[in-house]
Amino acid sequence: MEKGNAEKPLGNVTYLRLSITDRCNLRCFYCTPAEEWVKLPAPEILRYEEMLHLARVAVAQGIRKIRVTGGEPLVRRGVVEFIRELHQVQGLEEVCLTTNGVRLQELASELYDAGLRHLNLSLDTLKRERYRELTGSDNLLEVQAGLEKAASLGFHPIKINCVVLKDLNDGELPDFVQLVRERPFQVRFIEFMPTVAKGKWSRHFLPMAEVHRRLAFLGEGEPQVRQTAAGPARIFRFPGFRGELGFISPISEHQCPGCNRLRLTAAGRLRPCLFGKYEIDVKGPLRQGADDAALGRLFREAVELKAWKPEFTDPETLLACQQMARIGG
Ligand code: 5AD
Ligand code: SF4
Repeated sequence: MEKGNAEKPLGNVTYLRLSITDRCNLRCFYCTPAEEWVKLPAPEILRYEEMLHLARVAVAQGIRKIRVTGGEPLVRRGVVEFIRELHQVQGLEEVCLTTNGVRLQELASELYDAGLRHLNLSLDTLKRERYRELTGSDNLLEVQAGLEKAASLGFHPIKINCVVLKDLNDGELPDFVQLVRERPFQVRFIEFMPTVAKGKWSRHFLPMAEVHRRLAFLGEGEPQVRQTAAGPARIFRFPGFRGELGFISPISEHQCPGCNRLRLTAAGRLRPCLFGKYEIDVKGPLRQGADDAALGRLFREAVELKAWKPEFTDPETLLACQQMARIGG
């Protein structure tokens, strides 16, 4: 007998992260694999119409929010049109985009017109030289201009993901705090996950408790109530601030039972868990003409394969996961 009920076949899993490309125009410190970045051949990547088809299937199974990720999603041709069509999927309540912002200035208006409002920007430093060190590119000014453009167009919320790296950008915590004092952004400090060689990871990992210690001068913030399908961030407001701060501790406070997400890779494979070993191929069945009921079953299977246990709080097991780019974080 099939599990789940008719309205929520996927239980509390309502959020799909959809990677639309494995390509990226940056080479971030924590993301780029040590070896040459092996790009998937084009036919291996899902076409947009295939993704839209799977999005409809996912929504029929209970997905309510889809985040478009990469690689860097804004490097894929046709992304704006795709996002417009994604907004037309019946029953989908929220579409978000995670971007490194390099092409944001150029595309923000079109994205806004396509219906997009929710934006996550990956930005780990506000200093140009450090940006170059951390990403391999001199694009900080473009990214900042893109952020301003998005803010002026009325994107909301704008969330800024900042991976905290000991002895690299941790001195900038007060600068990010200053940013949200002045601007209505949500800056989210994220613990560095071991996606790189072990020595490098342990040298630069800073536990969230230490981040809180360094931000003790802020006093107690006012915790914000989580919305449905929100991620594992703990969000706080502080008196006089226009924006808010979020804290995401995938390592020190990881909790599987609340996990509400699935991932679909650019190659059309469902990943129940970022750090688990399972993937379910949906591209194959889709291309072989499987009907929506069969495709829906694959989503349910993926949810059943979710680990629901913190096997990855052991950083050793985490090192297996060095393909953040392909999975889209
Ligand atoms: N640790 C934490 N976050 C990471 N991301 C990528 N690699 C890591 C890592 N090792 C996140 C970045 C980016 C998103 C796409 O994935 O914050 O915003
Ligand atoms: Fe590109 Fe994002 Fe990876 Fe940086 S973290 S290299 S922007 S995919």
